[in-house]
Amino acid sequence: MRSQLDPEKLPKHLAIIMDGNGRWAAEKGKNRLFGHQNGVNSVRTIVEESARLGIPHLTLYAFSTENWQRPKEEISTLMQLLVQSLRNEFEKLLENKIKLQTVGNTALLPKSVQNELQSVVDKTAHNTHMTLTLALSYGAKDELVAAAQQLAQLVKNNIISPGDIDSSTLNNHLYTRNLPDVDLLIRTSGEHRISNFLLWQIAYAELYFTNVFWPDFREADLHQALLTYQQRERRFGKTSAQINA
Ligand code: FPP
Repeated sequence: MRSQLDPEKLPKHLAIIMDGNGRWAAEKGKNRLFGHQNGVNSVRTIVEESARLGIPHLTLYAFSTENWQRPKEEISTLMQLLVQSLRNEFEKLLENKIKLQTVGNTALLPKSVQNELQSVVDKTAHNTHMTLTLALSYGAKDELVAAAQQLAQLVKNNIISPGDIDSSTLNNHLYTRNLPDVDLLIRTSGEHRISNFLLWQIAYAELYFTNVFWPDFREADLHQALLTYQQRERRFGKTSAQINA
């Protein structure tokens, strides 16, 4: 399967909505927390495989603004898993030259989690092989509102005029300002929703939905998604004839 992938046509930015941890666990008669623990194994596999393939930017939806409404125990398990993973995987990030960054309102995370994240972000900042972006306490609507507020402030202070605002100005005020637009968005677990993820950045992304639950999503599933992506014709509003000319 590996050899069928065209290394020249990999997405520059792959984003994943990791869904189905709870249902995966329920199917096995286990609690949701067991699902999240096993979801971490898929995170490790997919990060390493994306780096090995040479995908320059990978963004994972780890915790949404809406996820704060989940039971306290589940939130705290997710935070613990995040801290444990950062500690366990730190060396691998360095080895694979992966830079870690976050998008979202991370000020809402427990202070200990913020500190752990900041430490890994600082220590991997020089890495250039792949950017791994964790969306944490992230909501696309919040991100767009924050950008609108920043731009309004610049207008109010006479630094820019309303007519100066174009799509690149707005883009420069998003959390993802250092990332290209998403080329491929994968959602696992059979749900067909975007759930407030990267609404601006997926304007022309190819969408790929699979029934596989996140804890079962491994290299072969990633390859299948990438193969499907490579078979799509991305027209960006043009005609097929124009694209092929
Ligand atoms: C969705 O499954 C998954 C999440 C809300 C969290 C994803 C988190 C991890 C995979 C573990 C920690 C992350 C990192 C980056 C180390 P769900 O709970 O919504 O599943 P369900 O829809 O079946 O209930």
